[in-house]
Amino acid sequence: MIDIDDIVTMKEIDKEDMLGFLERFPEQCEEAMTIAKKVNLTAFSNKPALIVILGMGGSGISGDITRVLLEDELSIPIYVNKDYKLPKFADKNTLFLAVSYSGNTEETLSGFDQAVSLGATVVSITSGGGLAKRAKEKNLPLVIIPKDIQPRAALGYLLIPVLVALEKFGLIEDKTTEIEETIASLKQARENLSPGSSSDENRAKQLAERLIGKIPIIYGSGGITGIAALRWKCQFNENGKVPAFYNVFPELNHNETVGWELLEDITERFFLIMLRDDQDHSQVKKRINITNSLIQDHFDGVFEVRTKGKSMLERIFSIIYLGDFTSVYLAVIEGIDPSPVERISVLKKRLAEE
Ligand code: F6R
Repeated sequence: MIDIDDIVTMKEIDKEDMLGFLERFPEQCEEAMTIAKKVNLTAFSNKPALIVILGMGGSGISGDITRVLLEDELSIPIYVNKDYKLPKFADKNTLFLAVSYSGNTEETLSGFDQAVSLGATVVSITSGGGLAKRAKEKNLPLVIIPKDIQPRAALGYLLIPVLVALEKFGLIEDKTTEIEETIASLKQARENLSPGSSSDENRAKQLAERLIGKIPIIYGSGGITGIAALRWKCQFNENGKVPAFYNVFPELNHNETVGWELLEDITERFFLIMLRDDQDHSQVKKRINITNSLIQDHFDGVFEVRTKGKSMLERIFSIIYLGDFTSVYLAVIEGIDPSPVERISVLKKRLAEE
């Protein structure tokens, strides 16, 4: 086991500097705003009837976050497509946003090609690759973000341009104040979460230490915490290299809650993390409390995390930031470099070859 207060050793393990990217995340969001605001979308001003966001994994989650943030504001539907094929209800009046950090993700490129053949507008957000090439060839709007980061560490670059583009299309209110307030609270949060803050007070280090050798189960609700739970799960998988699972209230009360009954010798290695938001539906709040009392004995431990902040953006990022740091510390404690995702790279390579 590595001492996560030993910064020198930690830096040796974290070879691609995932912790550095996390520490600089607020500045990444600032830069993302500057990049996105420069993009000119005036030539594409037709009002769409539907928004479809194309993207997978660390890029695709920017679509999920956008959907949950804007569902109560948009007067048209928003759909996140995470597959090769577009839904039949998408047509030339759909506004597509293709988000792929590398620009080479086949599912996203396939969606892009279909959207172009429909004659729809596609805004691409990428660091380059086939997506940038196609967008330039078709003379479609393109937001180029900086290269050489793991996609999941580039969430600011991937999400903020989506919000700015939707605002430029006149579909949502200007989000500058919310983004600025979110950045300010992320800066405050990093004082506690960064490697320099010791495990006596660092919430992410403390949680990572409790998770050693455990399988995290993350529960959120149908609102922002459900998407944050998905992000935590993916970050435990990709950074921490451990299995992790997530589910959302109230649906999980209609099935999964019953599953925590037998196999106690196995489930005692599971650790439950409950993500909570003051704006959760009042019945969901009750459900979380009741569920906790019913199933908590089946886990090695239960940990509750509450969102902080005013806007939905600030609140969702308050928990995502904690989860991101926790997943990286979990890898480092085990002496594992959090950045490489060997299996994803091998898989993509083999798919391209076969
Ligand atoms: C790797 C990661 C992955 C990728 C996914 C899609 O850090 O997070 O989940 O995001 O394989 O690739 P991109 O983002 O390049 O479209």
